[in-house]
Amino acid sequence: MSCRVWVRRWGLVVGGLLVSVLGIASWAQQAPEHGGHGTPEAWKFSWPAGNPVSGREVFVKLECYTCHEVKGEQFPKPDPGDDPGKVGPELSGMAPLHAAEYFAEAIINPNAVVEEGKGYRAPDGKSKMPSHNDLVTAQEVIDLVAYLRGLKADAGPPTHGGASPPSGEHGAPAAK
Ligand code: HEC
Repeated sequence: MSCRVWVRRWGLVVGGLLVSVLGIASWAQQAPEHGGHGTPEAWKFSWPAGNPVSGREVFVKLECYTCHEVKGEQFPKPDPGDDPGKVGPELSGMAPLHAAEYFAEAIINPNAVVEEGKGYRAPDGKSKMPSHNDLVTAQEVIDLVAYLRGLKADAGPPTHGGASPPSGEHGAPAAK
């Protein structure tokens, strides 16, 4: 075998190897994109557990009590002034009625659900509950939700055994 032929043969082998290594590398690069595209089936938004004690501190810091009574707490009473519709519903009775995601929405997107007939809507159609989104961290919202979910309605025996209604099932609006 002449020296030239030898070089040519090994050149081919090495070249072939390089092509396959590069091929695998580029396949590997694309793989996550191919597999990871789109939302996994049966994906569901999962709301993290929070700390109700910290949540109560946030409730006080943001003075949520100026518009919401919480039975069993010693917060100052809400003051409607000349607009009773500004005062939102009492919150302790709501804990068993709503999933965490519902409370989260009520806080970060108050316009999503506004109960009718209570004067809760401002003239522009929006909820009279102001947005607090610029004032809270995500962790504070998570803790606030834990606080609200942990409240116990002080009236009547605890008829709702399971404290966690399936998400998406909105309880009846708290009648008052
Ligand atoms: C200026 C008054 C005002 C303040 C301040 C206020 N809210 Fe509200 N809130 C309302 C009104 C009015 C409603 C009823 C209309 C609605 O659902 O948006 C409401 C509704 C809610 C609801 C939903 C109740 C339901 O059944 O739909 C939750 C939960 C709530 N507020 C929590 C809070 C928390 C937590 C804070 C403090 C970060 C807060 N609110 C501050 C006026 C207020």
